[in-house]
Amino acid sequence: MALVGEIFLPGDKSISHRALMFTALGDGISRLENLNPGADVKTTLQALQNLGIKIEDKHGVIHVQGGGLNPFNQPEHAMNCGNSGTTARLMIGLLAAHPIHVQFTGDHSLSKRPMDRVFRPIQQMGANVSATNRKFLPLMLSGRELWALDYRLPYASAQVKSAILLAGLHAKGETTVKSPAFSRDHTEQMLKAMGAKIKVKGREATVSQLKKPLKAIDFKVPGDFSAAAFFIAAALLVPDSELIIRDVGVNPTRIAFLHAVEEMGGDITVANKTVKNGEAIADLRVCSSKLQGIHIYPEMIANLIDELPLIALLATQAEGETVVSGAEELRVKESDRIAAMVSNLGNWGAKIFERPDGFHVEGPTPLKGGDVQTFDDHRVAMSMGIGGLISKLPARFDNPECVDISHPGFFDELRALMD
Ligand code: S3P
Repeated sequence: MALVGEIFLPGDKSISHRALMFTALGDGISRLENLNPGADVKTTLQALQNLGIKIEDKHGVIHVQGGGLNPFNQPEHAMNCGNSGTTARLMIGLLAAHPIHVQFTGDHSLSKRPMDRVFRPIQQMGANVSATNRKFLPLMLSGRELWALDYRLPYASAQVKSAILLAGLHAKGETTVKSPAFSRDHTEQMLKAMGAKIKVKGREATVSQLKKPLKAIDFKVPGDFSAAAFFIAAALLVPDSELIIRDVGVNPTRIAFLHAVEEMGGDITVANKTVKNGEAIADLRVCSSKLQGIHIYPEMIANLIDELPLIALLATQAEGETVVSGAEELRVKESDRIAAMVSNLGNWGAKIFERPDGFHVEGPTPLKGGDVQTFDDHRVAMSMGIGGLISKLPARFDNPECVDISHPGFFDELRALMD
C-alpha cells in the first residue's frame, strides 16, 4: 500500500476566518472562493451573520456584503465561538470599537483557553471588556471609542497580534504590535491587499485608523498548508509513495514544517510558485523518505506550531533523537498537545518523553496502533490517523468526527489515495 496521486486541499483555515471578518468592513460585495469548509470557519461565518452581515453561498462562492466602517448590528444572542480560538480572539479585536454589547461563549475546550492575552491589551486601548471567570470565556464586551497602542507581545501569537491590529483599525492614531519572533502574517497581507494603511518592519506591524472602508476583494483562498502537512507526513512515512499536492499556501511564515522535514531528509519538491494578494501558492511533490531526528528550537516554534504533533509522529520513525523546546504554547491549544501526543504515541510503543516546553523522541520504533484518545482535538486525531497508516493495528478513535473542525472528509480523502 502506497500513497499515490494528486490532491487539492480545503482552503486555509486562518485565511478563511480573516477573509470573512475583513470583508465585512468592505465597501461592497467580496467574493471568496475555496473557504475552509470546517466547523471553525462556519462559526465565524454565523457569528458575522448574527451581527447583521449579509453572507450568501452562490454555487460554492461566498458573497460577503461589506458594511463599511460601522457594519455591525446589536446581536440578539451571545456569540458562541464553539471550539474556535481564532473566532473568539480576532472577534474581540474586530468588535472592540463598535457600539454593541456582545457576550462571547465557547465550548468546553475553548472555555479553558486563556483569553486575557487578548483582552488585556485591548483594555489598554480603552475597550470595555471583562471576564466573569478570571481569564476565560464567557467574556462581555461593550464597544466604545479606542485609542492607539504600542504593544510588545510577550510571545509570538498571530491571534493576539491580529486582534490588536483589528482593534487598531478603529483606534485614534497608529497602533503598533512588536513580536518576539515571526508569526503568521495573513492579517497584515490581507489588510494591505484591501487598502488599509499598514506598515510592516521585520517583527513589527503598525496600522492606522481607517478613514474609509476597506476595499472589497475577490479572493481564492490557498489550500491549507496545515492540512497539507498531514498528507506530507503520510507520503514520507508510507513506503513507495509519491504524492502531488496542488495549490497549497506556502506563505513563508507558515512553512517551517516543510523546512524541518527537509532537514530530516524528506524528499519534497516545491513547484509552480505564484503570489496573489500577498499569499504564495505552490504545488508540492512528496516521496517516501528515510528520516533522521531533528532539533526544533524556540525561535522556529511559531511557524510550525500547528504541525508539532506531526513532528512527534515523524520523530518516532526517524533515526536518532528529536528534541522540541520552547513549545509551551502547545499546552493551551484545543487540547494540551504535548501531553496528548506523548500519551498516544507512548501507548503505541514510541520512546517519547514529555518536557515542560516540548518533548523528546528516540527513534525509530515500530508503532503498535490501536486506541487513540483524541481529546476532541482535530490535529491530534489526524496526526494519529497518519500514524495508523504504518502501525501494526489500525488506529481506533474515541471521537473521529473531531477532524470536522478543520477538514471534514479527511479520513475518506486519505483512504482514496491508498492503492
Ligand atoms: C492562528 C494562530 C495560531 C495557530 C492557530 C491559528 C491564527 O495560534 O495555532 O491554529 O489563525 O492566527 P496562536 O496565535 O495562538 O499561536
